[in-house]
Amino acid sequence: MKQVDLLYTGKAKSVYRTDEPGIYIMKFRDDITAFDGEKKDTLSGKGRYNAEVSTFFFRYLEENGIRTHYIRSIEPGTIAVRGLEMIPLEVIVRNVAAGSIVRNYPFKEGEPLDPPVIVIDFKSDTHHDPMLNDDLIYALNLATPEELDQIKATALAINDILREYLDARGITLVDFKLEFGRYNGEILVGDEISMDSMRLWDKETGASLDKDVYRFNKGDVMETYAGVAKRILSPPGESV
Ligand SMILES: Nc1ncnc2c1ncn2[C@@H]1O[C@H](COP(=O)(O)OP(=O)(O)O)[C@@H](O)[C@H]1O
Ligand SMILES: [Mg+2]
Repeated sequence: MKQVDLLYTGKAKSVYRTDEPGIYIMKFRDDITAFDGEKKDTLSGKGRYNAEVSTFFFRYLEENGIRTHYIRSIEPGTIAVRGLEMIPLEVIVRNVAAGSIVRNYPFKEGEPLDPPVIVIDFKSDTHHDPMLNDDLIYALNLATPEELDQIKATALAINDILREYLDARGITLVDFKLEFGRYNGEILVGDEISMDSMRLWDKETGASLDKDVYRFNKGDVMETYAGVAKRILSPPGESV
């Protein structure tokens, strides 16, 4: 399989067409951004850790019956994926109140959300990712009711799988963001599941193990990403 032309380049990844129809190559770059692109940096090695963790979780989800875009790894930081018609939704599942939900609503940071809360934002840089509701999603023709039901059910199923996996490694899955796309009439999980897209707290210390370390200058971002990648890729009880 050969990489052909650059299809698009986002804030953290670049997507290329290949000479095989329907298969794209996704490169996780070392660029990191926060606050709607206002804070930007390049951190050598970040892309590889995010690709490694995403690859691991996509495989783990497939083993657990969830269909994803992941096909195979090509080299560190680069994976082959099914080319999806992306649905411009950021599907966020929240188990614990943190981040924007605490800023915008009367939740206390660290308050458990049980059952988990799904928040769906419009993935649109020009509109600054406003929160949607079901009616807006239908009015904007972003997804059908059947698709939205499936997206929500899949997001909750993924939450159960990831939460249990991370909990066994001493990590609380506070919240995470998914993106979905259409592929031959199916809805697949796309994009990434990484330290850039999850909010993770150490169960013992409460320390941030994710992009919040970058957002709020809480410590060494690369050391954090390397450590959490190691914990995620290790059996429970090791390297905690
Ligand atoms: N399997 C896929 N097929 C096509 N596009 C994808 C796939 N997975 C993710 N994408 C899109 O590729 C882009 C990934 O790059 P990223 O740097 O995260 O972009 P953004 O700045 O838009 O979040 C996103 O727009 C994402 O929606
Ligand atoms: Mg992105």
